[in-house]
Amino acid sequence: MNFENLKITDSGGIRTITINRPEKLNALNVATIAELSSAISEVEADDGIEALVITGAGEKAFVAGADISELSTLGPVEAKEFALRGQEVFRRLERLAIPVIAAVNGYALGGGCELSMACHIRVASSKAVFGQPEVKLGLIPGYGGTQRLPRLVGRGRAVEMLLTGRNVTAEEAQRIGLVNAVCEPDELEVVVTELLVSILANGPLAVSHCLEAVNSGLEMCLDDASLLEATLFGVGAASDQMREGTTAFLERRKPDFRKG
Ligand code: COA
Repeated sequence: MNFENLKITDSGGIRTITINRPEKLNALNVATIAELSSAISEVEADDGIEALVITGAGEKAFVAGADISELSTLGPVEAKEFALRGQEVFRRLERLAIPVIAAVNGYALGGGCELSMACHIRVASSKAVFGQPEVKLGLIPGYGGTQRLPRLVGRGRAVEMLLTGRNVTAEEAQRIGLVNAVCEPDELEVVVTELLVSILANGPLAVSHCLEAVNSGLEMCLDDASLLEATLFGVGAASDQMREGTTAFLERRKPDFRKG
């Protein structure tokens, strides 16, 4: 499918979706959210895609937020629908069964910070800037920011960031657990690729079960989440991949999870 506001590239099973409106710092307008939804559907339907990277076009921004020119005209009913639509798209991204990495190359503000938080792992360039500045516009985050931020950085830090709307440097974002790693801007692609290579060497079913256990389990009570974990552990034990992984260990060789 051809997109106006996204660039799609594939390399060895790794798909990259680049939000591509650099003249507007990749702000997420309604059209871009719709395209992102279609791009996620393509990933859901394609077994050949083993991992997904989300990044932003240009030197300056990952995504500088929802498109403020569109936000400014919304009435209350439309605004709620606007939020629900974006939440649904980001939730589908988060629930993908393959690893999703945000390569945060610059400003990740508002909806951009929220998009990065819906990814499973965040790697940031040292010039990336994070924040939920919506209160400065008289708004609150509407794409999951009030929920994912406290889950990542803890309630106190999240509330402080949400209420002040202040920006956080990449270094601080790493210190508080908002990003997993920070690197030089020109190393971002290499660092993300190396991370994915280390993940993709592991059992694909086990990787996807880890994602499901974390994504679904964190929303359950501990007893239910533990039962989910045990069930997925059982399902994994029925797989050829588990047989290959354990046999390879005992035979002192590297497992090959992708054969057969
Ligand atoms: N929505 C719509 N357009 C946006 C945007 C957004 N969230 N963020 C940036 N843009 C546009 C600007 O309007 C400008 O467009 P123009 O050249 O047609 O006037 C262009 O992108 C470049 O932005 P500019 O503000 O000139 O760049 P800057 O380097 O001076 O500042 C930021 C960069 C990120 C600090 C600034 O753009 C900003 O604060 N953006 C809004 C961040 C925000 O509040 N996000 C949450 C939205 S809910």
